[in-house]
Amino acid sequence: MCSAGRRWGRRQRVLLWGVLLAAWEAAWGQLHYSVPEEMPKGSFVGDVANDLGLQLPALPDHGVRVVSEGRTQYFSLHEKTGHLVTAERIDREQLCRLVEKCVLRCELIVEGEMKVYEVDVEIMDINDNSPTFKDMELEEKISEMTAPGSRFSLPRANDPDSGQNSLQSYELSGDEHFSLAVQTGPGGDQRPELVLAKALDREEAAFHELVLRAIDGGDPTRTGTARIRVTVRDANDNAPVFSQTEYTVRVPEDVPVGSVLVTVTATDADEGLNGHVKYSLKKAMDMASDIFHLDHETGAITLLRSLDFEEGNFYELEVQARDDGDLFDTAKVAITVADINDNVPEISVRSALSEISEDAPSGTVVALLHVHDRDSGANGEVRCSLDGNVPFLLESSQGSYYRVVTARELDREQQSEYNVTVRASDGGWPALQSSRVLALRVLDVNDNAPVFSQERYSA
Ligand SMILES: *[C@@H]1O[C@H](CO)[C@@H](O)[C@H](O)[C@H]1NC(C)=O
Repeated sequence: MCSAGRRWGRRQRVLLWGVLLAAWEAAWGQLHYSVPEEMPKGSFVGDVANDLGLQLPALPDHGVRVVSEGRTQYFSLHEKTGHLVTAERIDREQLCRLVEKCVLRCELIVEGEMKVYEVDVEIMDINDNSPTFKDMELEEKISEMTAPGSRFSLPRANDPDSGQNSLQSYELSGDEHFSLAVQTGPGGDQRPELVLAKALDREEAAFHELVLRAIDGGDPTRTGTARIRVTVRDANDNAPVFSQTEYTVRVPEDVPVGSVLVTVTATDADEGLNGHVKYSLKKAMDMASDIFHLDHETGAITLLRSLDFEEGNFYELEVQARDDGDLFDTAKVAITVADINDNVPEISVRSALSEISEDAPSGTVVALLHVHDRDSGANGEVRCSLDGNVPFLLESSQGSYYRVVTARELDREQQSEYNVTVRASDGGWPALQSSRVLALRVLDVNDNAPVFSQERYSA
């Protein structure tokens, strides 16, 4: 039986053995075979009987044996055929882990002839191992501010096969932000590096999934892969942005105190504190800061005290959104106060008669009135009228003045006293109205003496 002779730690030793073997070959006779690893038990290695010129029938009789040092017997002699065959499945990588040329040695002893033949069996590598990475999943954290061209070392793969069957190259697939560089170390080993080819932007892609592939040179090739997940670390490279450059709101003047009139919002694409937005009023008209309150966190603008259209119908605020890194944006807020019909028309009597003689001609002015409504638009448009069926007319004068005039001569005997109600109503919905009563007494003019048609009558 044969066993693993020795494991050569170093190339020099192999070389030395080679020289020694050559010397022994002359004296003893030497056999060389090679067999691929991983062959099933009983596979043919070499025709020992034929190569040594032994007579087949003599084999068992002569007691031909194979011997070797070591525990595991890898070869045996097939007695009928005289072939050296494998006694075990042989794994080259297990026997000669770091050795290029893996040779097992045994001795063939032909007892009848008292002869010893050295048999060297070289175990040929087959591509039975794939390159493997120690970790299949890798995490890499790279700041989005990292300059293109920066390099990051990647883990190496291992392939225990030898020569061409071992690791030959690396490949990287994923996206255009990364490329692969392979450095050659002092011992000829390949060191893969991740190269940042294109600047990262966390707001565009927070993660990049890459695949590093190690390829050996066997036929067919075998590959091993490791997944690389690149997490892009945030930098404060984005300013807050208001959803609108100008917010316009129209609120009725009777909106209750504490109401939210408008909420401004700004978004910041950065994450964490870099994206945390705070709002502030940058500039406001006088008063406006007493009337409106801006919530720093929510951006809600609330009313601090009641509005009055007649006092102020337009406010403009300038708001600012600022992130923790002092990047900011500004926006305008235009608040228009809408009038509601909250004022009644006011009638002021600027001048009025309390008495009128019954012979006053029609069209005599008995009162001059002024009407005014503080509301605007239709809410402030006033229409005046006189109540009831009275012998008076209302004439519009310039501006908001009205005159109450007699429609005809009055007749004291018919009615000696009038209460003229002047009514003013605005155009709001519902309309507001007010009225004034003008009291007028009609004076009797029968206080003239009879008059003769002639001063003197003569007969
Ligand atoms: C006018 O109003 C006064 C006071 O309200 C009242 O005394 C008088 O009788 C009224 N006159 C007429 C004609 O309605």
